Amino acid sequence: MGKDTLTITDNRTGKTYEIPIEHNTIRAFDLRQIKTSAEDFGMMTYDPAYTNTAECKSTITFIDGDKGILEYRGYPIEQLAEQSSYLEVAYLLIYGELPSQERLEWWQYRISRHLFLHNSMVALIGAFRYDAHPMGILISAVAAMSTLYPEAKQIHDPAVREKQIWRIIGQIPTIAAFAYRQRIGRPFNQPDTSLSYTANMLYMMDYMNQRDYEVNPVLAKALDILFILHADHEQNCSTATMRGVGSSHPDPYCGLSAAAAALYGPLHGGANEAVLRMLQQIGSSKNVAGFIEKVKKGEGRLMGFGHRVYKNYDPRAKIIRKVAYEVFDATHTNPLLEVAVELERIALQDDYFIERKLYPNVDFYSGLIYQALRFPIEYFPFLFAIPRAAGWLAQWLEMLDDEEQKIMRPRQIYLGPERRDYVPIDKR
Ligand code: CMC
Repeated sequence: MGKDTLTITDNRTGKTYEIPIEHNTIRAFDLRQIKTSAEDFGMMTYDPAYTNTAECKSTITFIDGDKGILEYRGYPIEQLAEQSSYLEVAYLLIYGELPSQERLEWWQYRISRHLFLHNSMVALIGAFRYDAHPMGILISAVAAMSTLYPEAKQIHDPAVREKQIWRIIGQIPTIAAFAYRQRIGRPFNQPDTSLSYTANMLYMMDYMNQRDYEVNPVLAKALDILFILHADHEQNCSTATMRGVGSSHPDPYCGLSAAAAALYGPLHGGANEAVLRMLQQIGSSKNVAGFIEKVKKGEGRLMGFGHRVYKNYDPRAKIIRKVAYEVFDATHTNPLLEVAVELERIALQDDYFIERKLYPNVDFYSGLIYQALRFPIEYFPFLFAIPRAAGWLAQWLEMLDDEEQKIMRPRQIYLGPERRDYVPIDKR
């Protein structure tokens, strides 16, 4: 076994540098000593979209994209999806260990105490137009929480931090339900603290004074599993945003609102919405082959396929596929399922997708389940954001306690014009 260092020879100067390797990584800053002259700024790395740059050290989520492994705090996602509950997983992400029975009850109680919205928040949601996109409501509502809880700025006080976490995890499903009811013009249902986290959300969305109303336990359980699968995914676009915004030390509501905005895009949390729109556009399984040919010609992407990290399969997609069929048994088969199955079948046999290692990701199926649960398509990214709040908050806490972190400030390679003199407008 050789030394844990990397030797670099700069062919411009002939100088050699020995750089330490830790965790199979070199520190980008160690390259700054590589200079052609004393005035030279020093060597940097160029990594657009951070495809090969570790931004932090983390103990929260482990992904091995080649082997299709996803673990939260060391626990395989398959075991958590099978045996745990979303609130227990949220606890695990935030506190680092699975709770005892007593701690779990305490945590569930703390969250249940924070399901209710401030009246100003209710008024804010009520002010949105009937066709407002739910993600716009979420982004605004979470940012508005910053104005309602000004003490949240004390981010170095552990008790203050903890309280905002209870508020966010508690209130997000209520914001989702109220946003939904606002759009369909129905009165808001206050939370029912006797129900589970997901059953209560379904209740708040659906209840209309029916006698003997009950949330279907199969559907509440399916949503709970979906929440577990979406709770964290290490350094993705929205989590990096949460860390990046959090690094300038605003309250967590500002960071979470920005993270939700990052999640909204169709290449990230908006993908499940985009999958459904794509399936609707294809319309029938007989149109699938033609659609795939168009994708191969570069006319659009197969939404719900491909992943920056998973290059063999997405372990969440495997679990969710099974849940999808359980939900379809409890509801009615989704007519778009046939299109989805045919799309998956053809794509998985096609060289274009095989060569590029493009497999169905979690969003390929989640949209179908959400549709079977009768959520409107625009709601899908919101349903991703609700559970991801736990991951964002866990990552935010880790970032604040990491002594190596500072305000995020990447570098650039400037390729614009050289210095030139201002030309008055009449001389241009
Ligand atoms: N359909 C068709 N071709 C694709 C797709 C796709 N979905 N994804 C990648 N490719 C092609 C791409 O055109 C490129 O081909 P070529 O080498 O000929 O130029 C090659 O595969 C590599 O693509 P890339 O854009 O370099 O890959 P990436 O790692 O930057 O992109 C991705 C990852 C998820 C943004 C991308 O696969 C994609 O746009 N997928 C569709 C959107 C989607 O489903 N997003 C949800 C991701 S899972 C949820 C989450 O964790 O956030």
